[in-house]
Amino acid sequence: MPSNAATEAARLSSAPMMDWTDRHCRFLHRQLSRHALLYTEMVTAPALVRGGALHLLEFSPQEHPVALQLGGSDPNELAQAAKLGAEAGYDEINLNVGCPSDRVQSGTFGAVLMKDPDLVAECCSAMIGAVGVEVTVKCRIGVDDQEPQEVLPEFLARVSAAGVERFTIHARKAWLKGLSPKENRDIPPLDYDLVRQMKETFPALHLSVNGGVGTLAEAQKLLEAGFDGVMLGRAAYHQPVDILGSADRFIFEEDTPDRTGKDAVRAMLPYIEAHLTEGGKLHQITRHMLGLFAGQPGARAWRRVLSQGATRPGAGPELVEEALAEVTGVVA
Ligand SMILES: Cc1cc2nc3c(=O)[nH]c(=O)nc-3n(C[C@H](O)[C@H](O)[C@H](O)COP(=O)(O)O)c2cc1C
Repeated sequence: MPSNAATEAARLSSAPMMDWTDRHCRFLHRQLSRHALLYTEMVTAPALVRGGALHLLEFSPQEHPVALQLGGSDPNELAQAAKLGAEAGYDEINLNVGCPSDRVQSGTFGAVLMKDPDLVAECCSAMIGAVGVEVTVKCRIGVDDQEPQEVLPEFLARVSAAGVERFTIHARKAWLKGLSPKENRDIPPLDYDLVRQMKETFPALHLSVNGGVGTLAEAQKLLEAGFDGVMLGRAAYHQPVDILGSADRFIFEEDTPDRTGKDAVRAMLPYIEAHLTEGGKLHQITRHMLGLFAGQPGARAWRRVLSQGATRPGAGPELVEEALAEVTGVVA
């Protein structure tokens, strides 16, 4: 099984999510957990290689360990994109074989590649040849009328033979026609057991499970059941303190106090100042901070002050201080 900083961190990861896990979101998540692995949004290989959109690779050094997720299906282009990602300093390059959106299907990326494990293997082999950091794959258990019991082991066997040793498996099928991307994250049933069987069939692979995990306690149970890692998406985004604020102690077994929402806000203030000085807008950061006090007294006032004020011209850190003052009864 692979062993490096990103693999250690993959015990708990925050999922790649388009429009959500941008660099500001990841910086926030890093204030809550020093150890969890953070994934970028998907960046397409054509955008990097043909479009020259290298700004999509920018991140803060504090985000490490951080993994770049790529979308694409052309081996040469993916190899070039992976190289650009490794040169930018990412700790891992991940290939998206799980995203069912139409836009993505039109370019033959994402979940549709579950139907072509040979091409995925070719892509991964080209990426592995181009970079020194680990190349990983995030996939589904199958698509459309595929039989997951048959296709998932075939997929893992074929792609691992190309040199991939770590996979994250979103434990449900994707329906490429008939369901929206959002429905595809909820409607096809979860099958953790099948993914667990894969760990028995391929004990040398590092397998993380993803899909529908709502709490750290659930994540811990899955780790105890034999998975090497757990990836959380929506729960990590909407309740970042519950998930990431306790992760270092609870999942990574570090003797460290849990991080609170207030800790995170205080840590974000200098980052916000620097972003504004560079001409950035407050809401680009605070939109990811709305869930910091989820479930706590004052959460609604916190969200209201931030969401009403952060887009106003000239809004700055004082608005965040004002919103924080609304939060009552929060343990500092
Ligand atoms: C808003 C949003 C955007 C997403 N974008 C991506 C993406 O770019 N790449 C990807 O592999 N998965 C993407 N996903 C799927 C998540 O990574 C994850 O597999 C899915 O949400 C299931 O995990 P969860 O139940 O913990 O949220 C996205 C999910 C959401 C909610």
